[in-house]
Amino acid sequence: MVVLLKRPFTFILSEMTLDGKLTSKKGGSSKLIMEYMDEASKKFLHEQRASSDAIMVGCNTIKIDDSSLTVRYAEGKNPLRVIPCSLADIPLDSNVLEGDAPTIIATSERAPGENIDAIKERNAEVIVCGRDKVDLKLLMDKLFKRGIERLMVEGGPTLLWNLLKNRLVDEIKIIHIPFIVGGRDAPSLVGGEGIKSLNESIWVELKDTKMVGRDLVTEYDVVYEKR
Ligand SMILES: NC(=O)c1ccc[n+]([C@@H]2O[C@H](COP(=O)([O-])OP(=O)(O)OC[C@H]3O[C@@H](n4cnc5c(N)ncnc54)[C@H](OP(=O)(O)O)[C@@H]3O)[C@@H](O)[C@H]2O)c1
Repeated sequence: MVVLLKRPFTFILSEMTLDGKLTSKKGGSSKLIMEYMDEASKKFLHEQRASSDAIMVGCNTIKIDDSSLTVRYAEGKNPLRVIPCSLADIPLDSNVLEGDAPTIIATSERAPGENIDAIKERNAEVIVCGRDKVDLKLLMDKLFKRGIERLMVEGGPTLLWNLLKNRLVDEIKIIHIPFIVGGRDAPSLVGGEGIKSLNESIWVELKDTKMVGRDLVTEYDVVYEKR
């Protein structure tokens, strides 16, 4: 029997340098480059958060950036924070475990019980979905069933690759910070194992460009196949 999974409308929003990097060096926090965003594009980012029912980042971003994922530069409510983390091993003093917004840690059957219990004691919810890794399709279905209709994903590159590979993304919005950082190992927008041949390329269609303060913002529909 085929089970049809439903999911929220899902968009990626990332801030990126002119040379496509999400941060200035491997293992470095994106907060370093975010400091150079125009005030207007910071507001835009936070408006996008406020327009979403939930916001997702990968657990390595939490470990490196210690993101809060709250709405601070705009009016509006904090979205539900959703962190896929296969071993439920995010630091217990992470900002996403502070009570200023609800948080779900999505984990796998491999997660040690003591990690799960410790997170629950920090007032976050834990959802087990997936055997070895978080099953992103199943997670989307669970989020949709609890009323999440609009999901914003802020990165990082490993999570973005896995979402795109599974065709779980509808739209991509990029805030282009007008400088270049270079560096062989600095993470770019999408990571993971990447495509094996060009016929697996994931196609997008540009649908809008605008200046937000000094920063260019581009918006794409993810169409997957070449049209
Ligand atoms: N400029 C920006 O907009 C921006 C935004 C966010 C992040 N960043 C930067 O990106 C970097 C971190 O990116 P990253 O690629 O290392 O990590 P990431 O994408 O934030 O997190 C990846 C981790 O999520 C966990 N995960 C659980 N289930 C998964 C699944 N099904 N698919 C994918 N991941 C899953 C995995 O860890 P487990 O195996 O432990 O579960 C995986 O290693 C940092 O330098 C950060 O500053 C930049």
